[in-house]
Amino acid sequence: MANSMLDSLTRKALFALDPEFAHTMAVTALKTGLVPGCRPKPHAALAVRLWDLDFPNPLGVAAGFDKNAEVPDALLRLGFGAAEVGTITPLAQPGNPKPRMFRLVDDEAVINRLGFNNKGHLAAQQSLAARKGRPGIIGINVGANKDSDDRTEDYVTGVKAFADYASYFTVNISSPNTPGLRDLQARDALDNLLGRVLDERNRQTERVGRTVPLLLKIAPDLDELGLDDVCAVALERGIDGMIVSNTTLDRPSHLHCQDQLKETGGLSGAPLFAKSTIALAKVRERVGPDLPLVGVGGVRDAGTALEKIRAGAHLVQLYTGWIYGGALMIPSMLKEMAAELQRSGATSLDDIRGETTRDWAVQPLSSKK
Ligand SMILES: Cc1cc2nc3c(=O)[nH]c(=O)nc-3n(C[C@H](O)[C@H](O)[C@H](O)COP(=O)(O)O)c2cc1C
Repeated sequence: MANSMLDSLTRKALFALDPEFAHTMAVTALKTGLVPGCRPKPHAALAVRLWDLDFPNPLGVAAGFDKNAEVPDALLRLGFGAAEVGTITPLAQPGNPKPRMFRLVDDEAVINRLGFNNKGHLAAQQSLAARKGRPGIIGINVGANKDSDDRTEDYVTGVKAFADYASYFTVNISSPNTPGLRDLQARDALDNLLGRVLDERNRQTERVGRTVPLLLKIAPDLDELGLDDVCAVALERGIDGMIVSNTTLDRPSHLHCQDQLKETGGLSGAPLFAKSTIALAKVRERVGPDLPLVGVGGVRDAGTALEKIRAGAHLVQLYTGWIYGGALMIPSMLKEMAAELQRSGATSLDDIRGETTRDWAVQPLSSKK
Protein backbone atom coordinates (compact mmCIF):
# COMPACT_ATOMS: atom_id res chain seq x y z
CA MET A 1 0.00 0.00 0.00
CA ALA A 2 2.73 2.44 1.08
CA ASN A 3 4.69 1.36 -1.99
CA SER A 4 1.78 1.95 -4.35
CA MET A 5 1.18 5.45 -2.91
CA LEU A 6 4.86 6.24 -3.28
CA ASP A 7 4.72 4.88 -6.80
CA SER A 8 1.76 7.01 -7.79
CA LEU A 9 3.27 10.17 -6.22
CA THR A 10 6.60 9.54 -7.94
CA ARG A 11 4.83 9.02 -11.23
CA LYS A 12 2.91 12.29 -10.87
CA ALA A 13 6.14 14.14 -10.10
CA LEU A 14 7.96 12.57 -13.05
CA PHE A 15 5.07 13.34 -15.40
CA ALA A 16 5.33 17.03 -14.49
CA LEU A 17 8.86 17.01 -15.93
CA ASP A 18 10.14 16.99 -19.49
CA PRO A 19 10.01 13.30 -20.56
CA GLU A 20 13.70 12.89 -21.24
CA PHE A 21 14.68 14.64 -18.02
CA ALA A 22 12.19 12.45 -16.14
CA HIS A 23 13.85 9.42 -17.69
CA THR A 24 17.30 10.58 -16.57
CA MET A 25 15.91 11.14 -13.06
CA ALA A 26 14.38 7.66 -13.03
CA VAL A 27 17.68 6.04 -14.04
CA THR A 28 19.48 8.10 -11.38
CA ALA A 29 16.94 7.03 -8.74
CA LEU A 30 17.48 3.38 -9.67
CA LYS A 31 21.24 3.86 -9.58
CA THR A 32 21.23 5.39 -6.13
CA GLY A 33 18.85 2.77 -4.73
CA LEU A 34 16.04 5.33 -4.08
CA VAL A 35 13.48 3.02 -5.68
CA PRO A 36 12.54 0.15 -3.36
CA GLY A 37 13.02 -3.32 -4.80
CA CYS A 38 9.88 -5.42 -4.97
CA ARG A 39 11.07 -8.78 -6.23
CA PRO A 40 7.85 -10.75 -6.76
CA LYS A 41 7.20 -14.19 -5.43
CA PRO A 42 7.95 -16.70 -8.19
CA HIS A 43 5.00 -18.17 -10.08
CA ALA A 44 5.95 -21.61 -11.40
CA ALA A 45 3.47 -21.37 -14.28
CA LEU A 46 5.19 -18.22 -15.58
CA ALA A 47 8.74 -19.59 -15.68
CA VAL A 48 10.26 -19.89 -19.15
CA ARG A 49 13.32 -21.92 -20.13
CA LEU A 50 14.92 -20.91 -23.42
CA TRP A 51 18.45 -21.21 -24.80
CA ASP A 52 19.57 -22.86 -21.54
CA LEU A 53 18.46 -19.74 -19.66
CA ASP A 54 15.88 -19.83 -16.90
CA PHE A 55 13.64 -16.78 -17.09
CA PRO A 56 11.76 -16.51 -13.76
CA ASN A 57 8.94 -14.87 -15.69
CA PRO A 58 8.37 -13.79 -19.30
CA LEU A 59 8.32 -10.00 -18.71
CA GLY A 60 11.48 -8.21 -19.76
CA VAL A 61 12.21 -4.50 -19.84
CA ALA A 62 12.60 -3.50 -23.49
CA ALA A 63 15.71 -1.80 -24.87
CA GLY A 64 15.93 1.96 -24.60
CA PHE A 65 15.33 2.44 -20.88
CA ASP A 66 18.82 1.44 -19.74
CA LYS A 67 20.80 2.52 -22.77
CA ASN A 68 24.19 2.33 -21.05
CA ALA A 69 23.73 -0.78 -18.91
CA GLU A 70 23.81 1.30 -15.75
CA VAL A 71 20.92 -0.24 -13.80
CA PRO A 72 20.17 -3.80 -14.95
CA ASP A 73 20.20 -5.21 -11.41
CA ALA A 74 17.81 -2.54 -10.13
CA LEU A 75 15.45 -3.41 -13.02
CA LEU A 76 15.60 -7.09 -12.12
CA ARG A 77 14.85 -6.20 -8.49
CA LEU A 78 11.63 -4.54 -9.68
CA GLY A 79 10.44 -7.94 -10.86
CA PHE A 80 11.43 -8.09 -14.51
CA GLY A 81 12.47 -11.56 -15.64
CA ALA A 82 15.15 -10.06 -17.88
CA ALA A 83 16.65 -6.66 -18.62
CA GLU A 84 17.63 -5.73 -22.16
CA VAL A 85 20.18 -2.91 -22.15
CA GLY A 86 21.16 -0.67 -25.06
CA THR A 87 21.06 0.10 -27.87
CA ILE A 88 24.82 0.42 -27.52
CA THR A 89 26.94 1.65 -30.45
CA PRO A 90 30.75 1.31 -30.69
CA LEU A 91 31.40 5.01 -30.14
CA ALA A 92 29.54 7.34 -27.82
CA GLN A 93 27.12 9.58 -29.71
CA PRO A 94 24.78 12.37 -28.62
CA GLY A 95 21.73 11.41 -30.67
CA ASN A 96 19.34 13.91 -32.24
CA PRO A 97 18.78 17.48 -31.03
CA LYS A 98 16.39 17.93 -28.09
CA PRO A 99 13.46 17.86 -27.54
CA ARG A 100 13.22 14.35 -28.95
CA MET A 101 10.86 12.48 -26.65
CA PHE A 102 7.16 13.28 -26.32
CA ARG A 103 4.37 11.87 -24.14
CA LEU A 104 0.91 11.32 -25.58
CA VAL A 105 -0.68 10.94 -22.17
CA ASP A 106 -4.30 10.43 -23.23
CA ASP A 107 -3.17 7.71 -25.62
CA GLU A 108 -0.71 6.06 -23.17
CA ALA A 109 1.91 6.47 -25.86
CA VAL A 110 5.31 8.03 -26.50
CA ILE A 111 6.99 9.35 -29.63
CA ASN A 112 10.79 9.35 -29.55
CA ARG A 113 13.49 10.26 -32.00
CA LEU A 114 16.42 9.90 -29.62
CA GLY A 115 18.70 8.47 -32.31
CA PHE A 116 20.81 5.99 -30.31
CA ASN A 117 22.13 8.47 -27.77
CA ASN A 118 24.53 6.38 -25.69
CA LYS A 119 27.97 6.37 -24.09
CA GLY A 120 29.46 3.73 -26.37
CA HIS A 121 30.88 0.24 -25.88
CA LEU A 122 33.62 1.11 -23.42
CA ALA A 123 31.35 2.75 -20.83
CA ALA A 124 28.83 -0.10 -20.99
CA GLN A 125 31.62 -2.69 -20.75
CA GLN A 126 32.83 -1.03 -17.56
CA SER A 127 29.34 -1.11 -16.01
CA LEU A 128 28.82 -4.72 -16.98
CA ALA A 129 32.26 -5.78 -15.77
CA ALA A 130 31.43 -4.29 -12.36
CA ARG A 131 28.37 -6.59 -12.03
CA LYS A 132 29.98 -9.70 -13.51
CA GLY A 133 29.07 -12.87 -11.65
CA ARG A 134 25.72 -11.58 -10.41
CA PRO A 135 22.67 -13.64 -11.35
CA GLY A 136 19.98 -12.36 -13.73
CA ILE A 137 19.35 -12.41 -17.45
CA ILE A 138 20.84 -9.43 -19.28
CA GLY A 139 20.21 -8.99 -22.98
CA ILE A 140 22.61 -6.71 -24.80
CA ASN A 141 21.14 -4.77 -27.69
CA VAL A 142 23.79 -3.66 -30.18
CA GLY A 143 23.57 -1.06 -32.92
CA ALA A 144 25.54 1.03 -35.38
CA ASN A 145 26.89 4.56 -35.12
CA LYS A 146 25.11 7.11 -37.26
CA ASP A 147 28.35 8.16 -39.00
CA SER A 148 29.85 4.70 -39.32
CA ASP A 149 31.50 3.78 -42.64
CA ASP A 150 30.60 0.13 -42.13
CA ARG A 151 27.46 -0.31 -40.09
CA THR A 152 27.55 -4.08 -40.34
CA GLU A 153 31.01 -4.07 -38.77
CA ASP A 154 29.60 -2.06 -35.85
CA TYR A 155 27.29 -4.99 -35.01
CA VAL A 156 30.19 -7.43 -35.31
CA THR A 157 32.21 -5.23 -32.94
CA GLY A 158 29.26 -5.23 -30.52
CA VAL A 159 29.19 -9.01 -30.37
CA LYS A 160 32.93 -9.10 -29.79
CA ALA A 161 32.76 -6.42 -27.08
CA PHE A 162 29.96 -7.97 -25.01
CA ALA A 163 30.24 -11.75 -25.39
CA ASP A 164 31.54 -11.98 -21.82
CA TYR A 165 28.51 -10.22 -20.39
CA ALA A 166 25.48 -11.01 -22.55
CA SER A 167 22.89 -13.64 -21.64
CA TYR A 168 21.67 -12.99 -25.17
CA PHE A 169 22.31 -10.49 -27.95
CA THR A 170 19.81 -8.38 -29.85
CA VAL A 171 20.77 -7.07 -33.26
CA ASN A 172 18.69 -3.94 -33.59
CA ILE A 173 18.19 -2.92 -37.20
CA SER A 174 14.74 -1.48 -36.66
CA SER A 175 15.15 1.90 -35.02
CA PRO A 176 13.45 4.51 -37.21
CA ASN A 177 15.68 7.26 -35.83
CA THR A 178 19.00 6.47 -37.51
CA PRO A 179 18.54 7.32 -41.19
CA GLY A 180 18.93 4.25 -43.43
CA LEU A 181 19.21 1.76 -40.54
CA ARG A 182 16.00 -0.06 -41.44
CA ASP A 183 17.46 -0.70 -44.92
CA LEU A 184 19.47 -3.45 -43.21
CA GLN A 185 16.19 -5.39 -43.11
CA ALA A 186 16.32 -5.80 -46.91
CA ARG A 187 17.09 -9.37 -47.95
CA ASP A 188 20.70 -9.15 -49.20
CA ALA A 189 21.81 -6.60 -46.61
CA LEU A 190 20.30 -8.72 -43.83
CA ASP A 191 21.84 -11.90 -45.16
CA ASN A 192 25.27 -10.29 -45.19
CA LEU A 193 24.76 -8.74 -41.75
CA LEU A 194 23.58 -11.94 -40.08
CA GLY A 195 26.30 -13.99 -41.75
CA ARG A 196 29.03 -11.73 -40.39
CA VAL A 197 27.50 -11.28 -36.95
CA LEU A 198 26.91 -15.01 -36.51
CA ASP A 199 30.49 -15.76 -37.58
CA GLU A 200 31.70 -13.48 -34.82
CA ARG A 201 29.27 -14.97 -32.31
CA ASN A 202 30.57 -18.43 -33.20
CA ARG A 203 34.18 -17.30 -32.82
CA GLN A 204 33.29 -15.95 -29.38
CA THR A 205 31.65 -19.26 -28.46
CA GLU A 206 35.04 -20.92 -28.37
CA ARG A 207 36.49 -18.14 -26.24
CA VAL A 208 33.70 -17.76 -23.67
CA GLY A 209 32.74 -21.42 -23.59
CA ARG A 210 29.05 -21.01 -24.42
CA THR A 211 26.95 -19.97 -27.39
CA VAL A 212 25.33 -16.61 -26.73
CA PRO A 213 21.89 -16.63 -28.39
CA LEU A 214 21.47 -13.99 -31.06
CA LEU A 215 18.09 -12.35 -31.69
CA LEU A 216 17.00 -9.98 -34.42
CA LYS A 217 14.73 -7.05 -33.56
CA ILE A 218 12.49 -5.93 -36.39
CA ALA A 219 10.17 -3.05 -37.19
CA PRO A 220 6.38 -3.35 -37.23
CA ASP A 221 6.30 -1.37 -40.48
CA LEU A 222 7.46 -4.11 -42.85
CA ASP A 223 4.95 -5.21 -45.47
CA GLU A 224 4.12 -8.87 -46.22
CA LEU A 225 7.01 -9.25 -48.67
CA GLY A 226 9.39 -7.58 -46.26
CA LEU A 227 8.32 -10.03 -43.56
CA ASP A 228 8.77 -12.92 -46.00
CA ASP A 229 12.35 -11.84 -46.67
CA VAL A 230 13.31 -11.18 -43.06
CA CYS A 231 11.86 -14.50 -41.85
CA ALA A 232 13.42 -16.48 -44.70
CA VAL A 233 16.88 -15.04 -44.06
CA ALA A 234 16.50 -15.46 -40.29
CA LEU A 235 15.68 -19.15 -40.75
CA GLU A 236 18.36 -19.76 -43.37
CA ARG A 237 21.01 -18.15 -41.20
CA GLY A 238 19.83 -19.98 -38.10
CA ILE A 239 19.43 -17.10 -35.67
CA ASP A 240 18.11 -17.97 -32.21
CA GLY A 241 15.04 -15.77 -32.04
CA MET A 242 13.31 -12.58 -33.11
CA ILE A 243 11.94 -9.58 -31.26
CA VAL A 244 8.77 -8.13 -32.74
CA SER A 245 8.69 -5.16 -32.62
CA ASN A 246 10.35 -1.80 -32.41
CA THR A 247 8.37 1.48 -32.58
CA THR A 248 6.19 2.41 -35.57
CA LEU A 249 6.27 5.30 -38.02
CA ASP A 250 2.48 5.08 -38.32
CA ARG A 251 0.37 7.90 -37.00
CA PRO A 252 -3.08 6.40 -36.35
CA SER A 253 -5.78 9.02 -37.05
CA HIS A 254 -7.95 8.03 -34.09
CA LEU A 255 -5.51 9.15 -31.39
CA HIS A 256 -6.35 11.95 -28.96
CA CYS A 257 -3.02 13.76 -28.90
CA GLN A 258 -3.05 15.07 -32.47
CA ASP A 259 -0.55 17.86 -31.73
CA GLN A 260 2.23 15.50 -30.66
CA LEU A 261 1.45 13.22 -33.60
CA LYS A 262 3.15 15.78 -35.82
CA GLU A 263 6.49 14.99 -34.18
CA THR A 264 8.73 12.69 -36.19
CA GLY A 265 10.04 9.53 -34.57
CA GLY A 266 8.83 6.15 -33.44
CA LEU A 267 5.46 5.72 -31.74
CA SER A 268 5.25 3.25 -28.86
CA GLY A 269 2.72 2.27 -26.22
CA ALA A 270 -0.97 1.37 -26.39
CA PRO A 271 -1.53 2.43 -30.04
CA LEU A 272 1.24 0.05 -31.12
CA PHE A 273 -0.30 -3.01 -29.50
CA ALA A 274 -2.47 -4.24 -32.38
CA LYS A 275 0.03 -3.51 -35.12
CA SER A 276 2.96 -5.16 -33.35
CA THR A 277 0.82 -8.16 -32.37
CA ILE A 278 -0.31 -8.63 -35.99
CA ALA A 279 3.35 -8.51 -37.06
CA LEU A 280 4.26 -11.00 -34.31
CA ALA A 281 1.59 -13.47 -35.41
CA LYS A 282 2.60 -13.12 -39.06
CA VAL A 283 6.20 -13.84 -38.09
CA ARG A 284 5.09 -16.84 -36.04
CA GLU A 285 3.23 -18.27 -39.04
CA ARG A 286 6.29 -17.80 -41.24
CA VAL A 287 8.91 -19.24 -38.89
CA GLY A 288 6.92 -22.19 -37.54
CA PRO A 289 6.18 -23.08 -33.92
CA ASP A 290 9.68 -23.51 -32.55
CA LEU A 291 11.72 -20.34 -33.11
CA PRO A 292 11.56 -18.29 -29.89
CA LEU A 293 9.84 -14.94 -30.39
CA VAL A 294 9.69 -11.96 -28.06
CA GLY A 295 6.48 -9.93 -28.30
CA VAL A 296 6.89 -6.18 -27.70
CA GLY A 297 4.65 -3.20 -28.32
CA GLY A 298 1.84 -1.77 -26.26
CA VAL A 299 1.99 -4.28 -23.40
CA ARG A 300 0.57 -2.54 -20.34
CA ASP A 301 -1.21 -5.12 -18.17
CA ALA A 302 -1.66 -8.85 -17.61
CA GLY A 303 -4.18 -9.13 -20.45
CA THR A 304 -1.97 -7.54 -23.10
CA ALA A 305 1.05 -9.55 -21.94
CA LEU A 306 -0.84 -12.85 -22.13
CA GLU A 307 -2.25 -11.89 -25.52
CA LYS A 308 1.31 -11.58 -26.89
CA ILE A 309 1.89 -15.17 -25.74
CA ARG A 310 -1.40 -16.33 -27.24
CA ALA A 311 -0.39 -14.64 -30.49
CA GLY A 312 2.82 -16.67 -30.53
CA ALA A 313 5.44 -15.14 -28.23
CA HIS A 314 7.65 -17.06 -25.79
CA LEU A 315 8.68 -13.89 -23.97
CA VAL A 316 7.26 -10.38 -23.69
CA GLN A 317 8.88 -6.98 -23.20
CA LEU A 318 7.52 -3.58 -22.29
CA TYR A 319 8.76 -0.04 -21.93
CA THR A 320 6.05 2.61 -22.53
CA GLY A 321 3.35 0.72 -20.59
CA TRP A 322 5.73 0.59 -17.66
CA ILE A 323 6.24 4.37 -17.78
CA TYR A 324 2.47 4.86 -17.54
CA GLY A 325 1.81 1.98 -15.13
CA GLY A 326 4.52 2.90 -12.62
CA ALA A 327 7.84 1.41 -11.62
CA LEU A 328 6.29 -1.01 -9.16
CA MET A 329 3.66 -2.50 -11.49
CA ILE A 330 5.46 -5.71 -12.50
CA PRO A 331 4.73 -7.92 -9.45
CA SER A 332 0.98 -7.25 -9.62
CA MET A 333 1.01 -7.86 -13.36
CA LEU A 334 2.70 -11.22 -12.79
CA LYS A 335 0.23 -12.14 -10.06
CA GLU A 336 -2.68 -11.41 -12.40
CA MET A 337 -1.06 -13.32 -15.24
CA ALA A 338 -0.63 -16.38 -13.00
CA ALA A 339 -4.23 -16.11 -11.76
CA GLU A 340 -5.55 -15.79 -15.33
CA LEU A 341 -3.58 -18.84 -16.43
CA GLN A 342 -5.01 -20.81 -13.54
CA ARG A 343 -8.56 -19.65 -14.34
CA SER A 344 -8.14 -20.87 -17.90
CA GLY A 345 -6.88 -24.24 -16.72
CA ALA A 346 -3.36 -23.73 -18.11
CA THR A 347 -0.34 -24.86 -16.12
CA SER A 348 2.30 -23.10 -18.19
CA LEU A 349 2.61 -20.47 -20.90
CA ASP A 350 3.20 -23.31 -23.38
CA ASP A 351 -0.46 -24.24 -22.92
CA ILE A 352 -1.72 -20.96 -24.35
CA ARG A 353 0.98 -20.07 -26.90
CA GLY A 354 -0.44 -19.86 -30.38
CA GLU A 355 -4.11 -19.87 -29.36
CA THR A 356 -4.80 -16.65 -31.26
CA THR A 357 -1.96 -16.61 -33.81
CA ARG A 358 -4.33 -17.21 -36.73
CA ASP A 359 -6.80 -14.52 -35.61
CA TRP A 360 -4.04 -11.90 -35.51
CA ALA A 361 -2.14 -13.12 -38.56
CA VAL A 362 -5.08 -12.71 -40.94
CA GLN A 363 -5.34 -9.00 -40.20
CA PRO A 364 -3.74 -6.53 -42.62
CA LEU A 365 -0.49 -4.66 -41.97
CA SER A 366 -0.03 -1.15 -43.21
CA SER A 367 2.90 -0.99 -45.62
CA LYS A 368 4.58 2.17 -44.28
CA LYS A 369 8.35 1.62 -44.07
C1 LIG B 1 12.18 6.37 -25.34
C2 LIG B 1 12.40 5.09 -26.07
C3 LIG B 1 13.68 4.72 -26.44
C4 LIG B 1 13.90 3.52 -27.11
N1 LIG B 1 15.17 3.15 -27.44
C5 LIG B 1 15.38 1.94 -28.02
C6 LIG B 1 16.68 1.50 -28.30
O1 LIG B 1 17.68 2.16 -28.01
N2 LIG B 1 16.83 0.30 -28.92
C7 LIG B 1 15.77 -0.50 -29.24
O2 LIG B 1 15.96 -1.60 -29.77
N3 LIG B 1 14.51 -0.10 -28.96
C8 LIG B 1 14.30 1.08 -28.37
N4 LIG B 1 13.02 1.47 -28.08
C9 LIG B 1 11.89 0.61 -28.49
C10 LIG B 1 11.42 -0.29 -27.37
O3 LIG B 1 12.43 -1.20 -26.98
C11 LIG B 1 10.18 -1.09 -27.80
O4 LIG B 1 10.54 -1.94 -28.87
C12 LIG B 1 9.03 -0.20 -28.27
O5 LIG B 1 8.97 0.98 -27.49
C13 LIG B 1 7.68 -0.91 -28.19
O6 LIG B 1 7.41 -1.32 -26.88
P1 LIG B 1 6.48 -0.46 -25.87
O7 LIG B 1 5.20 -0.14 -26.59
O8 LIG B 1 6.30 -1.37 -24.69
O9 LIG B 1 7.25 0.76 -25.51
C14 LIG B 1 12.79 2.68 -27.41
C15 LIG B 1 11.50 3.07 -27.03
C16 LIG B 1 11.29 4.25 -26.36
C17 LIG B 1 9.89 4.62 -25.96
